[in-house]
Amino acid sequence: MAEVFISPLHNILSHFRFILTLRSEERKYHGLILFRLSSSSSSARYEDEGADQRDRRVDDLENDDSGNALNRQIYVMEATCPHLGAEMSHADIEEYEDSVVAVCPWHRYDFDLKTGKSETGLRTCTYDVQIMADPKTGEEQVWMEAPQGGRNWRVVELRPVSDEFADPPPESISSLSANGVATPHAQEATEPVVPEKNPPKTLMEWAVLILNTPNPTLKVERTRYAVHAFRTGAITSVGNKVAHPPVPPAQPPRETYMTIVEPGKIQSGKRRNKAVMLHALANIEQWAIDLAWDIMARFGPMHKDLPPAFFADFSKMALDESKHFSLLRARLTAFSTPYGSLPIHASLWDSATLTSRSLLSRLAIIHLVHEARGLDVNPKTIEKFKKAGDKESVDVLEVIHADEVTHVTAGHRWFVWMCEQQQQRQGGLEVNPVQVFREEVRRCWHGDIKGPFNVEDREKAGLSREFYDDLKGEMSYPDHEENARMTMNKTTKSAEISPEETQVEQKRGNREGPVYTDGIQEALAAVRVTYET
Ligand code: FES
Repeated sequence: MAEVFISPLHNILSHFRFILTLRSEERKYHGLILFRLSSSSSSARYEDEGADQRDRRVDDLENDDSGNALNRQIYVMEATCPHLGAEMSHADIEEYEDSVVAVCPWHRYDFDLKTGKSETGLRTCTYDVQIMADPKTGEEQVWMEAPQGGRNWRVVELRPVSDEFADPPPESISSLSANGVATPHAQEATEPVVPEKNPPKTLMEWAVLILNTPNPTLKVERTRYAVHAFRTGAITSVGNKVAHPPVPPAQPPRETYMTIVEPGKIQSGKRRNKAVMLHALANIEQWAIDLAWDIMARFGPMHKDLPPAFFADFSKMALDESKHFSLLRARLTAFSTPYGSLPIHASLWDSATLTSRSLLSRLAIIHLVHEARGLDVNPKTIEKFKKAGDKESVDVLEVIHADEVTHVTAGHRWFVWMCEQQQQRQGGLEVNPVQVFREEVRRCWHGDIKGPFNVEDREKAGLSREFYDDLKGEMSYPDHEENARMTMNKTTKSAEISPEETQVEQKRGNREGPVYTDGIQEALAAVRVTYET
């Protein structure tokens, strides 16, 4: 029975594959892939269509009075392969006499799109899809059968897999400038995207290589390459379960020509001009690329039970942040202000350092405080550029904002997942995500989390008001001793560092207890300034 509304039909005629994420009333998540077959493409491998071609295809379909049934063949299946968890977004689609199958990019197991069965004996879940006319408007709508394990599922993300930035993979630095998302200047990289000596073989190795790459162009290129390789089966191992995983740097390096200053020294306030604002945002996006790789490289080995969907979500985030950085950098060239020509600060990384011992803390502070704060202030920033008549920058900022909603969603998804794991370890004793989140903020944040809030987009991302109303951090620096005592207080569940986290930290030679940085008060204040101006 079709119970979950996906979208009006015309909205999914633009592409053949979509990442589809559902959330239930109980705030559980379910990751799916929607395939739409057409008579001309069902047997084709992944297609990367240009915008013009896509527009023509939509016109063709909308003008197709014949009711071509094949054009309406829509399938929904699990987002990850039941064998070893590969992402199915780049599966090959192969058509046989009586069936159509999706072929996993990692080990080539094929799964019937209708039944989910594979000849190997494995089976994935597939869901019935129906196209129904709205009784009032007659609009054709796509609905699907509800997954088990939750009530009142609704779509929180429906995003085309095809993305000009994501595919095909870059072959050289010049490919970036060719498609208009980056502009070469003093930052051109001299190293190859894939190192000739000891090329990375796993996602963890790529993550650490990218974190250690100071050149922003090369960081973007390597991100594009690694994510594409992971999705298409050129990399078939996450690599987080090996005995000696690669160690991420304490802080990713920056090019020596870049001037890193104390957060308070960055121009702020009402007089910041457009170029300065765009430069500040590009700086945040460059750190955001690193944050997405760092959460995988740092916490993957600590939490070996993290499912493949975790790495799929955060590698997608790394790719999004690379796209954002490139789009902003292209806008900066329009203002004759190359990226790196103004000072930058590293305040966002201070929050990463502060939360480097606990995945719960990292998800809470980076994704549910910092990124959620971005949702509050982005519309105001967009409004400023609209008033200035800068349509190109408005377009860029709107793309960024839409993606950021999905990043907060991912933060919420994995925060809730961590709480569920903790609940299971405690024999079912309730671990309430809202309470745990508020405790993390109390412990790892300084000062009030102030509105006005973008309630609508926060809700889309899973953050109901109970998460953030009257929220206050009580972290007080530089009283390290007091904070260490608070962090290690075993009466507070959320303040505990898991045994796995402690074990991996000890192997890596880190001291026990939380990690602090000097000047954190100034750093956090600067982050707020960055978002709020
Ligand atoms: S066949 Fe899909 S992960 Fe192995």
